[in-house]
Amino acid sequence: KKSVDDINVKGKKVLVRCDFNVPLQDGKITDENRLVAALPTIKKLIADGGKVILCSHLGKPKGEPKPELSLAPVAVRLSELLGQEVKFAADPEVVGPNAKAAVAEMKDGDVILLENTRYRAEETKNGDEFSKELASLCDVFVNDAFGTAHRAHCSNVGVTKYVDTAVVGYLMQKEIDFLGNAVNNPERPFVAILGGAKVSSKISVINNLLDKVDTLIIGGGMSYTFSKAMGGHIGVSLCEDDYLQYALDMMKKAEEKGVKLLLPVDNRIGDSFSNDCNIQVVKRGEIPDGWEGMDIGPETEKLFAEAVKDAKTVVWNGPMGCFEMPNFAHGTEAVAKALADTDATTIIGGGDSAAAVNILGYGDKMTHISTGGGASLEFLEGKELPGVAAANDK
Ligand code: 3PG
Repeated sequence: KKSVDDINVKGKKVLVRCDFNVPLQDGKITDENRLVAALPTIKKLIADGGKVILCSHLGKPKGEPKPELSLAPVAVRLSELLGQEVKFAADPEVVGPNAKAAVAEMKDGDVILLENTRYRAEETKNGDEFSKELASLCDVFVNDAFGTAHRAHCSNVGVTKYVDTAVVGYLMQKEIDFLGNAVNNPERPFVAILGGAKVSSKISVINNLLDKVDTLIIGGGMSYTFSKAMGGHIGVSLCEDDYLQYALDMMKKAEEKGVKLLLPVDNRIGDSFSNDCNIQVVKRGEIPDGWEGMDIGPETEKLFAEAVKDAKTVVWNGPMGCFEMPNFAHGTEAVAKALADTDATTIIGGGDSAAAVNILGYGDKMTHISTGGGASLEFLEGKELPGVAAANDK
C-alpha cells in the first residue's frame, strides 16, 4: 500500500482525513490522544511543502450544523500541538464558499481544518455529490483516520473515487501493522484478553480469535453469560440469555482447537451498582440472589497475570469490571499491570480499554494503543475495513 512516503506533495493541495472524533465537555477536549496520534502525518506533509487541508467528523450531528459539534476547538488545540496556526475554515456546508476561499489563499506548508463532515447529510450515505466536492479541493488524498476505517463514508471512501492519488498516513499504517501482525502473524504464545459488557458485540471477535490464539481470556461483563451457560448462579449480573448456547459453542470450539480458554474463577460482587455498595468476593457461579458481579476477583487476577507472563503477543480489548468505580477497578488494573510487566508485544484495542489503560497510568508501558474503538474491533473480527480498502485500491 502507498503511504505519504511515496508521494511528492510540494506545492500540492493535500486533503487529509483524520479521526478527530474526540470527547468534548463544555467545549474542552477531554482526551486528545487522537489529535496527538495524527501529528506525525501532518508534520511530514508540512515539512514537504504541501498545502494541508484536514477534515474529520465529530459526534453524530446527523446532517445538521450543531454548534456544540463544531471542530473549532480541535483547530485551536491542533495549532498549539503543532506550534503553527491551523486555520479553521468555518463553513456549515463543509465545502462551501468559506472553505473554498480559505483553500485558495493557502501557501505551501499552511494547514487548515474543515468543519465537521457530518454537518452534511450525504457524508454517512457515502453519496457522490459531497465526495466530489471534497475531492475538488485537493490534488492528493491521504487517509489517516483509522478510527473511522470501519465506516464507508464520503470523506474516507467516496472521495477516493474522484481523486487521482489516494494514500494512507502514518497512523493508519502503524495501526494496520500492529493489529495486522498481531492477529495474522503473531509471535507465540499469543494471548487475547476480552472484556466489556456484551457477548453479542464481540461474537465474531471471539470466533475469529479462537482460530488464531494460544490462550483466550474472557473477563468483564460478558463472562457472566459464560458462567450462567455452565450452570452457575450469577445473581443480577449482566447476562445475555440469547447467547448461552453460543457461549457453550465457543467453549467447545476452544477445546477442539486446543486453545486454552480462561474464565474468571472468582468475582468481586456488590449489592447495588455503585462504588460504595457492600462488597464480597465469591467463587465464579456462586453469586447470591440480588448481588451483581462487578469485577474479577483476586484469584482471577493472579490466573490472568500468570497467563500473560510468558506470552510474546498480547491483544486486549474490554475492561475486566466497572473500572470507573475505584472499588471495582482492581481487575482491570491487575491486567494492565500484568501487560506492563511482560516482555510481550502488547496491543490495546481502542475505546474503553484504551481509556482504562490511560486513566490507570499504564499508557506508556504498552507497545501500541489503538485509536480505533469500533475499527479495532472489526479488525479483530477479521473483516476488511472499507476505509483501508478504498485507500489501497487507488
Ligand atoms: C469512533 O469513535 O469509533 C469513530 O470516530 C467512529 O465514530 P462513529 O461510531 O460515530 O461512526
